[in-house]
Amino acid sequence: MKIIVTGGLGYIGSNVCLELLLKGHEICILDNLCNSSLIVLDNLKFLSQKNIEFFNCDVRNINDLYNVIDQFKPEGAYHFAGLKSVTDSLSNPLEYYDVNVTGTVNLLKALTRVNAKAVVFSSSATLYGQSASGVCFETDPTIPINPYGWTKLMSEQVLRDWVEADRSRRAICLRYFNPIGAHESGLLGEPVNGKQANLLPALIDVWLKRTGELAVFGGDYNTFDGTAERDYVHIYDIANGHVQVLEHICQMSSFETLNLGTGKSTTVLNLIREFERACGDEIPVNICDRRDGDSQSCYANVEKARQLIGFECRKTLYEACVDACNYATKNFDPQHDR
Ligand code: NAD
Ligand code: WQD
Repeated sequence: MKIIVTGGLGYIGSNVCLELLLKGHEICILDNLCNSSLIVLDNLKFLSQKNIEFFNCDVRNINDLYNVIDQFKPEGAYHFAGLKSVTDSLSNPLEYYDVNVTGTVNLLKALTRVNAKAVVFSSSATLYGQSASGVCFETDPTIPINPYGWTKLMSEQVLRDWVEADRSRRAICLRYFNPIGAHESGLLGEPVNGKQANLLPALIDVWLKRTGELAVFGGDYNTFDGTAERDYVHIYDIANGHVQVLEHICQMSSFETLNLGTGKSTTVLNLIREFERACGDEIPVNICDRRDGDSQSCYANVEKARQLIGFECRKTLYEACVDACNYATKNFDPQHDR
């Protein structure tokens, strides 16, 4: 299939692009490089041994988007381009609505012009918001508690209405839980910039001695060790799930939401133990107050993804930590001999 991938040089997009290329799909990548670099494009070419068309383009710029899509004439799109920080979305809500929601509308306008019929969208478990306590089902109420979560819910609605207007279209919204790890080569992963809010990048910061200790947000939750539970899923399994969607898209309803996670909950301290086992070092921790807006427990029910696309996680938490360390060593450790 001929597919345009927006945000294809980012963490999740790049890992998906590689799997699509290895399966023989023809892709073109569109990214404005605000949170990625052209090194990722080189790494993708190296790993796939394929030439890849790339456009430096912002999804907010409709005319640029028309040019790219009119030229490439895709049959469908994977839409990863977006901003993803919950904290930033609270201080810059309009920017988040602009990039994430207007960006989605623009993409659909451009796809409609060339009669492209399928979109796979990067949604998030964050839209379960306040209802997220314990296991999350796709049918659970969606009550976002921050602008970022609202942009995901609003984009889902835009996609729902787009397929409603023409039932031969397909829009599949993948609600990721907590993607972690990197490609096993150490060439595709999540950049660590020293101000990480997410747990795994924060662990890397401590491991690389950029931060003294890991702040564990909350030690008094009602879980077996007192720390919060999440569903950490290897980026390889997430990437594979995207390829499986494409393989099953013709048999799916025109609009679907699917959870992508492992279906298992892991506490913060559990993840730290796995990370220590993977890196061979001890990680100093400091148990602090709970973080505002955090829920005690949030993990996926993945039965729908299993039934509709045959989704199954193959990689362990330990492997995710090993791959994350390998990526960090190759990309951020000043001691490492490149
Ligand atoms: P990322 O920041 O690594 O990748 C996003 C990519 O989009 C980057 O390459 C960035 O340069 C590009 N981009 C951003 N704004 C753009 C714009 N205006 N025009 C064109 N390109 C633009 O993030 P990621 O972790 O790979 O996430 C990808 C998608 O998945 C995002 O939409 C995010 O909201 C969603 N998501 C991520 C997670 C997660 O934990 N990483 C969880 C759930 C959902
Ligand atoms: C996980 C657990 C923290 C950092 C967020 C977004 C969600 C999705 C994934 C995009 C929590 C604890 C964390 C630290 C800690 N992204 N923690 N010390 O909050 O589950 O989800 O990322 O869509 O939308 O909300 O992920 O990695 O930030 O936190 O103790 O330094 O680790 O309190 O319990 P979260 P996270």
